[in-house]
Amino acid sequence: MNHTFHLPDSSVFLGPLAETLPAWLRNRQYEQFFIITDRNTHAVCSGCLQLPGAVEFVVGGIGHAGTAGFVPEQLKTLQTCEQIWAAMLGARLDRRALVINLGGGVISDMGGFCAATYKRGLDFVQLPTSLLAMTDAAIGGKLGIDFHGVKNAIGVFKNPVAVFADPDFLKSLPARELRSGFAEIIKHALIGDPALWQKIQSLHPESIADGAALSAASWIDLLEASISVKTQVVTLDPHEHGIRALLNFGHTFGHAIESYFLPTADPLTHGEAVAMGMLCEALPSDGAGAVFPFEQDAEILRIIPGFFPCRPIPDSAFPAIWDLMLQDKKNKSGVVRLALPDAEPFSMRLQETSRADVERRLRRYNVLLAAAGEK
Ligand SMILES: NC(=O)c1ccc[n+]([C@@H]2O[C@H](COP(=O)([O-])OP(=O)(O)OC[C@H]3O[C@@H](n4cnc5c(N)ncnc54)[C@H](O)[C@@H]3O)[C@@H](O)[C@H]2O)c1
Repeated sequence: MNHTFHLPDSSVFLGPLAETLPAWLRNRQYEQFFIITDRNTHAVCSGCLQLPGAVEFVVGGIGHAGTAGFVPEQLKTLQTCEQIWAAMLGARLDRRALVINLGGGVISDMGGFCAATYKRGLDFVQLPTSLLAMTDAAIGGKLGIDFHGVKNAIGVFKNPVAVFADPDFLKSLPARELRSGFAEIIKHALIGDPALWQKIQSLHPESIADGAALSAASWIDLLEASISVKTQVVTLDPHEHGIRALLNFGHTFGHAIESYFLPTADPLTHGEAVAMGMLCEALPSDGAGAVFPFEQDAEILRIIPGFFPCRPIPDSAFPAIWDLMLQDKKNKSGVVRLALPDAEPFSMRLQETSRADVERRLRRYNVLLAAAGEK
């Protein structure tokens, strides 16, 4: 079943790529195609594209597929952009070219950034292949790369001309990556869709880690609901002057936690870090009650540790995590702010936080995990 979501200057097509992409291309005059993939999506997804003469750039190079030892986030850098821009020049791309980003969120963020900046901007489409990219990263035109250890420090806003989300790609996605994408679905439920949140509470965590345990129709329902929240928010506020910051729920802590673990031997996935961040941000702060959207629904503190293998955060990491939070884009005059869902769907409050509050939340988070582990 196909479904189309319309944004002011772009559309999101949910359905089989073999139907949606050729139909869309038929009415367009592109003369060159430049495909950006990563090692895994080159191996398992690029066969779906039949575009004679297309040039492909593979982030991480062609090699054995698999996530062991290959962390695309570590390649979401200026150095990789230089290689992509060089390949674009080598292919003599001009304004009649279409860039096709076939991959997870790293490819949609970095491939989109390279397309948006090369020769002042080429058209690009997002073909998200991970759950996280389908439901979130590929939609809304936030593009960029990590820089000097800070997540998404360099980037631009530019919408893709279209997004094509084909749930069939989820069949080859490893369990850990399925779960990772599910974190953004939980976030979308908590910020804008109480019915989706109810549905999530009825799911067994194993059904997400084992994609085959959910029917294709259930995946489509989850994707539809989640994409709907994202497209509504970015339509209301395309450049994040207001309500779009709500999509950052869990990310003030989450980005800092993800950046902290990225250079280690055991990096977190983006979704794992966001899940941990949502817990930290939903926990009670100084004297105030906990933040639970939708009529004080404390289930969030039970559901998230059930779905995600959240890891404890050592006290020794607290100073570095605070330093990373000082780089958050929502900060105002040096004050770090959390974007928290309020009682009504699509309502937000920005809560100021401090170093002491952040450390207290991290400690409470560790206590919560220990208690969840003992049950
Ligand atoms: N721009 C935005 O609005 C936005 C929103 C959320 C997240 N993001 C960004 O998205 C990134 C995370 O995205 P992600 O979780 O997709 O990470 P990712 O791009 O690293 O993909 C995860 C892993 O899955 C593999 N993979 C992807 N599709 C596959 C498939 N169909 N079969 C087999 N393997 C597959 C990849 O090769 C990679 O190893 C982060 O950089 C984050 O900052 C951006």
